[in-house]
Amino acid sequence: MEEFKMELIQADNLSIKYPNSDVPVIVNTSFNVAKNEIFVLVGPSGCGKSTILQAIAGFISSDGVLKMNGETITGPDWQRGVVFQNSSLYPWLTVKDNVGFGLKVRKFPQKKIDSRVRYLLDLIGLSDQSQTKTFELSGGMRQRVAIARVLANNSPLLLMDEPFGALDAFTRAKMQGLILDIWRKEKTSIFMITHDLNEAIRCGNRIAIMNSHDKRIVKIMDNPFQDTDLEEISDFELERKIDGFRKDILKIINQ
Ligand SMILES: Nc1ncnc2c1ncn2[C@@H]1O[C@H](COP(=O)(O)OP(=O)(O)OP(=O)(O)O)[C@@H](O)[C@H]1O
Ligand SMILES: [Mg+2]
Repeated sequence: MEEFKMELIQADNLSIKYPNSDVPVIVNTSFNVAKNEIFVLVGPSGCGKSTILQAIAGFISSDGVLKMNGETITGPDWQRGVVFQNSSLYPWLTVKDNVGFGLKVRKFPQKKIDSRVRYLLDLIGLSDQSQTKTFELSGGMRQRVAIARVLANNSPLLLMDEPFGALDAFTRAKMQGLILDIWRKEKTSIFMITHDLNEAIRCGNRIAIMNSHDKRIVKIMDNPFQDTDLEEISDFELERKIDGFRKDILKIINQ
């Protein structure tokens, strides 16, 4: 009998090598992403975080088991929407047309597209900018459009690679709140990479940790603060509260 609760993403003994090199970047890593979970991956620069995300996205191939909903991932798919640190939007299109782009390609009726886009612009707080060309937007606004564009597809999984890495601390904190809000309303699952441990602790249900030499996820921890409302408190207060847990994570990263 199969396990009753099916995982959204199942990775077993995953190994990844880039075609231009014989040295694997990821060796025998195993993890699952559950439905409705925010799974956050942290680790030092160059340890292979983005490589894992790109394999899940289907951009690069891997050895071992890598499945979504029980089906092997063989390439990119609307079911996995990707948001990068500097997601490129279509600069010649308006905010509204960027968000609706994927649905248009998939030939959804215009009425459906319009109502979904209207809802999403409201969700990300950009209804007033709906007719603005995206090259005129600030960095934070652009990232919000990139997120809405992915959400438009109703992807069950959002893959986010340092989505707020280029934003100032204030905007970043607001975006973290927005992500939690979206996650609650849209009931999506999120696989997120971040350098920022505060962000990991603010957003994650579980936190997966890599170090600089093992080439795999060495530990996955339940976030003891996941049900605490950390959105409204300042970085200063947050840091006092979470100091012990943060140190635990750092210890593993630096092992
Ligand atoms: N396209 C590529 N071809 C060959 N090697 C690559 C490629 N992309 C990344 N690598 C190598 O794979 C390793 C892991 O890189 P990756 O980008 O996954 O790290 P990361 O953990 O995301 O780092 P950062 O936090 O700096 O983004 C590095 O040694 C990197 O040089
Ligand atoms: Mg990276």
